[in-house]
Amino acid sequence: MQTIFVNQKDESPIAPYFKFALGVTGAILLGRLLPVVYANAVGSIRGAMGKDPFEGLIAEHRKLLSLLDQMEATPADKPLQRMRLFYDFKRTIGKHALAEEDIVYPLLQTDADRAEAMRKLYQEHASMKVSLFQLDQAIKEVGGWIDAVHSLRNEIEPHARQEEEVEFPQLRAVLSQEKSAQLSRKIEQEESLMV
Ligand SMILES: [Fe+2]
Ligand SMILES: [Fe+2]
Repeated sequence: MQTIFVNQKDESPIAPYFKFALGVTGAILLGRLLPVVYANAVGSIRGAMGKDPFEGLIAEHRKLLSLLDQMEATPADKPLQRMRLFYDFKRTIGKHALAEEDIVYPLLQTDADRAEAMRKLYQEHASMKVSLFQLDQAIKEVGGWIDAVHSLRNEIEPHARQEEEVEFPQLRAVLSQEKSAQLSRKIEQEESLMV
């Protein structure tokens, strides 16, 4: 049998760059994958401990309302502060909506016979996105900013109350312990995609 020896000196001149690019791509992929793997592990532990799968979402409702309070109190001559609060708000509501829309709301239809309520929640999220867009446009305005903050609050408060007092309890009542643990893991994992 013939053996083929490859002399390293015969390596293409672009090979080191290719290897470098592969290394960078690997590092980026790993960097993107690690938070998801970590979130998956945290969610699994929370689920195994029997924690309420909706605990994190409820805490995010509080955070969003607190950020709205802070945004309302921040005057137009502090645009950087407004921007910092706005982006914190946008990040929080973004990952929150992702977990609800992709993981929690479908269960309302498949496991809790709440299809109509589910469609209403999706519509309310769509409407919040328009208000969020208006808030972004109004960062330097006096009245427009306050109006947009009020619009968001008027949409979020009843929506969050409906979730906490009606929809989440409906799901708690029908989900088995195993499904509930699975839900904890999936919510953590979905939210980690936005970090
Ligand atoms: Fe929601
Ligand atoms: Fe929510």
